[in-house]
Amino acid sequence: MHQDFTLGSGCQNKPVKLLSILGSNESERAASLLQHGGLVALPTETVYGLGAAINQPAAIARIFKVKGRPVDHPLIVHVSDWEMAEPLIAGPLAEYVPALVRAFTPGPITFIVPKSDVVSEAITGGQDSVGIRIPRHSLTQSIIRALGCAVAAPSANLFGEVSPTSAIHVFNDLKDTLDSETDAIVDGGDCEIGLESTIVDCRFDIPRILRPGAITKEMISAVVASVQSDVNSQLRVSGALEKHYSPRAHVRIIDDIAEFPSDSSLAGFIALERYQTPPQAIRLAMPRNESEFAQILYEALRKADDLNLDEVVIIAPEDTGIGVAIRDRISRAAD
Ligand code: TXA
Ligand code: MG
Repeated sequence: MHQDFTLGSGCQNKPVKLLSILGSNESERAASLLQHGGLVALPTETVYGLGAAINQPAAIARIFKVKGRPVDHPLIVHVSDWEMAEPLIAGPLAEYVPALVRAFTPGPITFIVPKSDVVSEAITGGQDSVGIRIPRHSLTQSIIRALGCAVAAPSANLFGEVSPTSAIHVFNDLKDTLDSETDAIVDGGDCEIGLESTIVDCRFDIPRILRPGAITKEMISAVVASVQSDVNSQLRVSGALEKHYSPRAHVRIIDDIAEFPSDSSLAGFIALERYQTPPQAIRLAMPRNESEFAQILYEALRKADDLNLDEVVIIAPEDTGIGVAIRDRISRAAD
């Protein structure tokens, strides 16, 4: 028997409204959706974020639902400049913070600072601190300025999966959970950096790096006297980590081509250009340097899933500069 399928309201003759993809001349429209309590996926230089205005509690609650994210995982709050951040912060800041803000913002860094009452505990997962980020993507800068309000945004992927670095990734991940009446995706092209921001905890005498990123430990220590890094420089033991940033395919990390598994049937392969592609491997990416490695890593992991590969073998780059962040993400993606 013939069945009619309709999306949304169940009203059979109502045309199905597709999720809007907004272009670079539609900042005002994006800001208006946020102002009315919608969710808008925003391009940043790191990865795409799923934004809600911080003064829209129902929208903040929907972020967790749409992503399938536990409510105790805090969201980063995005502002257009430090002046917009000030009302969100409680008390005096550590004396090194202004120097870090001057050196690295707008850009791929998030500062953990004590929160004021303007930031709800729904945003911070019940914590009394907040992560503040000033993204430098011009489109998201203009959207936040047009809105005149800070925007809470986690990466715009389903919880535990690979972060999106293009509008198409966001569409694939969230098309079924976003609401085409109230929400939209802003297409700002491929992300320039491709890995999430460096997170620096600024609540102590010495800044601590909680998550490595494109603003490296070396860059931070050139600005402040000392910096702590909680990041283990060794690749971590398989299985010892909370699984995160993971494709469906099993991720295996090797240090040299000689370790490429010979037992493997067809496997995906990601390594710098200088490594040859082994037999029985499908080359998913051949970046020329570490920055390019960072930029295309998530796209390559997604490609592995599109091809239904069981395994992806990655030769990790050296453990310095942005290589630290790349190794951190691929070790988390590995089972
Ligand atoms: O580059 C990025 O940071 C991207 C773009 C969209 O800005 N955002 C991002 O958000 O990666 P998300 O939610 O996927 O990851 C944020 C991380 C989480 O691991 C969260 O626990 C941590 O930041 N975080 C946020 N607020 C925090 C806080 N107050 N204290 C400690 N960690 C915090
Ligand atoms: Mg995330």
